[in-house]
Amino acid sequence: MNVHVRETLLSEETIRNRVRELADRIANDHAGHEVLLVGILRGAFIFLADLVRQLRIPSKIDFIAVSSYGKGIESGAVRLIMDLRDDIAGRHVILVEDIVDSGRTLTYLREMLSARHPASLQICALVRKPERLKIDLPVDYLGFDIPDVWVVGYGLDCMDQYRGLPYIAAVEVS
Ligand code: IMP
Ligand code: MG
Repeated sequence: MNVHVRETLLSEETIRNRVRELADRIANDHAGHEVLLVGILRGAFIFLADLVRQLRIPSKIDFIAVSSYGKGIESGAVRLIMDLRDDIAGRHVILVEDIVDSGRTLTYLREMLSARHPASLQICALVRKPERLKIDLPVDYLGFDIPDVWVVGYGLDCMDQYRGLPYIAAVEVS
Protein backbone atom coordinates (compact mmCIF):
# COMPACT_ATOMS: atom_id res chain seq x y z
CA MET A 1 0.00 0.00 0.00
CA ASN A 2 1.32 3.46 -0.91
CA VAL A 3 0.63 6.46 1.25
CA HIS A 4 1.05 9.91 -0.28
CA VAL A 5 1.04 13.05 1.85
CA ARG A 6 -1.01 15.63 -0.04
CA GLU A 7 -1.97 19.23 0.71
CA THR A 8 -1.48 20.86 4.09
CA LEU A 9 -4.83 21.55 5.74
CA LEU A 10 -3.55 23.18 8.93
CA SER A 11 -0.14 24.83 9.03
CA GLU A 12 2.15 24.94 12.04
CA GLU A 13 1.30 28.57 12.64
CA THR A 14 -2.44 28.03 12.29
CA ILE A 15 -2.28 25.20 14.82
CA ARG A 16 -0.06 27.16 17.22
CA ASN A 17 -2.42 30.14 17.27
CA ARG A 18 -5.50 28.00 17.79
CA VAL A 19 -3.87 25.96 20.59
CA ARG A 20 -3.07 29.21 22.38
CA GLU A 21 -6.71 30.35 22.05
CA LEU A 22 -7.98 27.05 23.39
CA ALA A 23 -5.58 27.22 26.35
CA ASP A 24 -6.75 30.75 27.12
CA ARG A 25 -10.39 29.70 27.07
CA ILE A 26 -9.68 26.75 29.35
CA ALA A 27 -7.78 29.02 31.74
CA ASN A 28 -10.68 31.50 31.81
CA ASP A 29 -13.30 28.83 32.40
CA HIS A 30 -11.24 27.16 35.12
CA ALA A 31 -9.78 30.19 36.86
CA GLY A 32 -9.22 29.44 40.54
CA HIS A 33 -8.84 25.70 40.38
CA GLU A 34 -6.61 23.00 39.01
CA VAL A 35 -7.45 20.95 35.94
CA LEU A 36 -6.46 17.41 35.03
CA LEU A 37 -5.67 17.05 31.33
CA VAL A 38 -6.20 13.49 30.17
CA GLY A 39 -4.47 12.73 26.88
CA ILE A 40 -5.87 9.92 24.79
CA LEU A 41 -2.99 7.85 23.48
CA ARG A 42 -1.46 7.75 21.12
CA GLY A 43 -2.67 10.51 18.84
CA ALA A 44 -3.10 13.28 21.42
CA PHE A 45 0.45 13.36 22.77
CA ILE A 46 1.66 16.34 20.72
CA PHE A 47 -1.51 18.38 21.13
CA LEU A 48 -1.46 17.78 24.88
CA ALA A 49 2.21 18.77 25.10
CA ASP A 50 1.58 22.07 23.31
CA LEU A 51 -1.67 22.78 25.16
CA VAL A 52 -0.23 22.29 28.62
CA ARG A 53 2.66 24.64 27.84
CA GLN A 54 0.21 27.42 26.92
CA LEU A 55 -2.04 26.88 29.92
CA ARG A 56 -1.77 29.62 32.53
CA ILE A 57 -3.51 27.79 35.38
CA PRO A 58 -2.33 24.89 37.56
CA SER A 59 -2.70 21.57 35.80
CA LYS A 60 -1.75 17.95 36.03
CA ILE A 61 -1.67 15.41 33.24
CA ASP A 62 -2.57 11.78 32.90
CA PHE A 63 -3.01 9.43 29.96
CA ILE A 64 -5.48 6.82 28.88
CA ALA A 65 -5.19 4.48 25.90
CA VAL A 66 -7.93 2.97 23.80
CA SER A 67 -8.13 1.17 20.53
CA SER A 68 -11.11 0.71 18.34
CA TYR A 69 -11.92 -2.44 16.44
CA GLY A 70 -12.79 -2.17 12.80
CA LYS A 71 -11.30 1.22 11.99
CA GLY A 72 -12.39 2.25 8.55
CA ILE A 73 -15.46 0.08 8.63
CA GLU A 74 -18.48 1.05 10.61
CA SER A 75 -18.32 -1.28 13.63
CA GLY A 76 -15.84 0.65 15.77
CA ALA A 77 -16.30 -0.83 19.25
CA VAL A 78 -13.88 0.84 21.65
CA ARG A 79 -11.58 -1.09 23.98
CA LEU A 80 -9.65 0.23 26.95
CA ILE A 81 -5.93 -0.58 26.72
CA MET A 82 -4.51 1.48 29.58
CA ASP A 83 -6.43 3.19 32.35
CA LEU A 84 -5.62 6.42 34.18
CA ARG A 85 -3.06 6.30 36.93
CA ASP A 86 -4.99 8.47 39.38
CA ASP A 87 -8.46 8.72 40.84
CA ILE A 88 -10.50 11.54 39.29
CA ALA A 89 -13.26 11.90 41.89
CA GLY A 90 -13.84 15.58 42.67
CA ARG A 91 -11.39 16.80 40.01
CA HIS A 92 -11.88 19.00 36.96
CA VAL A 93 -11.09 16.68 34.09
CA ILE A 94 -10.55 17.64 30.46
CA LEU A 95 -10.25 14.82 27.93
CA VAL A 96 -7.75 15.84 25.27
CA GLU A 97 -8.17 14.14 21.89
CA ASP A 98 -6.50 14.62 18.52
CA ILE A 99 -9.51 14.05 16.27
CA VAL A 100 -13.22 13.31 16.52
CA ASP A 101 -14.39 11.06 13.73
CA SER A 102 -17.51 8.99 14.51
CA GLY A 103 -17.46 10.25 18.11
CA ARG A 104 -17.44 6.74 19.55
CA THR A 105 -14.10 6.92 21.34
CA LEU A 106 -15.02 10.04 23.27
CA THR A 107 -18.56 8.90 23.97
CA TYR A 108 -17.18 5.69 25.49
CA LEU A 109 -14.58 7.52 27.57
CA ARG A 110 -17.00 10.19 28.70
CA GLU A 111 -19.43 7.59 30.01
CA MET A 112 -16.69 5.55 31.65
CA LEU A 113 -15.09 8.53 33.37
CA SER A 114 -18.27 10.30 34.41
CA ALA A 115 -19.14 7.22 36.49
CA ARG A 116 -16.07 8.04 38.61
CA HIS A 117 -17.63 11.30 39.81
CA PRO A 118 -15.28 14.02 38.61
CA ALA A 119 -16.23 17.57 39.65
CA SER A 120 -16.49 18.35 35.94
CA LEU A 121 -15.71 16.50 32.73
CA GLN A 122 -15.09 18.29 29.44
CA ILE A 123 -13.77 17.48 26.00
CA CYS A 124 -11.04 19.29 24.10
CA ALA A 125 -10.39 18.09 20.55
CA LEU A 126 -8.06 19.64 18.01
CA VAL A 127 -9.91 18.46 14.92
CA ARG A 128 -13.38 17.19 14.11
CA LYS A 129 -14.92 15.74 10.94
CA PRO A 130 -18.55 16.81 11.27
CA GLU A 131 -19.70 14.79 8.26
CA ARG A 132 -18.59 11.58 9.96
CA LEU A 133 -20.17 12.07 13.38
CA LYS A 134 -22.44 9.20 14.31
CA ILE A 135 -23.29 10.30 17.82
CA ASP A 136 -24.23 13.68 19.18
CA LEU A 137 -21.11 14.60 21.12
CA PRO A 138 -20.58 17.97 22.78
CA VAL A 139 -17.02 19.23 22.28
CA ASP A 140 -16.32 21.98 24.80
CA TYR A 141 -13.06 23.14 23.23
CA LEU A 142 -12.70 22.52 19.49
CA GLY A 143 -9.78 23.50 17.31
CA PHE A 144 -11.03 23.00 13.76
CA ASP A 145 -13.70 21.34 11.68
CA ILE A 146 -12.26 19.66 8.58
CA PRO A 147 -13.75 17.79 5.62
CA ASP A 148 -14.02 14.01 5.52
CA VAL A 149 -10.46 13.18 4.48
CA TRP A 150 -7.80 11.12 6.25
CA VAL A 151 -5.25 13.42 7.85
CA VAL A 152 -1.79 12.92 9.35
CA GLY A 153 0.71 14.93 11.35
CA TYR A 154 0.77 16.66 14.72
CA GLY A 155 0.26 13.27 16.41
CA LEU A 156 -2.14 11.85 13.84
CA ASP A 157 -1.07 8.78 11.91
CA CYS A 158 -1.72 6.66 8.91
CA MET A 159 -0.70 3.10 9.76
CA ASP A 160 1.44 4.55 12.57
CA GLN A 161 3.44 6.82 10.28
CA TYR A 162 3.73 10.61 9.99
CA ARG A 163 2.85 11.45 13.62
CA GLY A 164 5.91 13.72 13.79
CA LEU A 165 4.95 16.10 10.98
CA PRO A 166 4.59 19.57 12.54
CA TYR A 167 1.50 20.38 10.43
CA ILE A 168 -1.68 18.49 9.50
CA ALA A 169 -1.98 17.24 5.93
CA ALA A 170 -4.36 15.07 3.95
CA VAL A 171 -3.13 11.70 2.72
CA GLU A 172 -4.10 9.55 -0.16
CA VAL A 173 -3.72 5.78 0.15
CA SER A 174 -3.37 3.82 -3.07
P1 IMP B 1 -13.88 7.96 16.59
O1 IMP B 1 -14.02 7.08 17.77
O2 IMP B 1 -14.53 7.38 15.35
O3 IMP B 1 -14.32 9.40 16.83
O4 IMP B 1 -12.37 7.94 16.17
C1 IMP B 1 -11.43 8.70 16.71
C2 IMP B 1 -10.08 8.09 16.45
O5 IMP B 1 -9.93 7.64 15.09
C3 IMP B 1 -9.03 9.11 16.64
O6 IMP B 1 -8.56 9.12 17.96
C4 IMP B 1 -7.95 8.67 15.68
O7 IMP B 1 -7.11 7.73 16.31
C5 IMP B 1 -8.67 7.97 14.59
N1 IMP B 1 -8.84 8.82 13.39
C6 IMP B 1 -10.01 9.22 12.85
N2 IMP B 1 -9.82 9.96 11.75
C7 IMP B 1 -8.48 10.04 11.59
C8 IMP B 1 -7.63 10.69 10.60
O8 IMP B 1 -8.07 11.36 9.66
N3 IMP B 1 -6.30 10.55 10.79
C9 IMP B 1 -5.77 9.83 11.81
N4 IMP B 1 -6.50 9.22 12.75
C10 IMP B 1 -7.86 9.32 12.64
MG1 MG C 1 -6.59 8.69 18.58
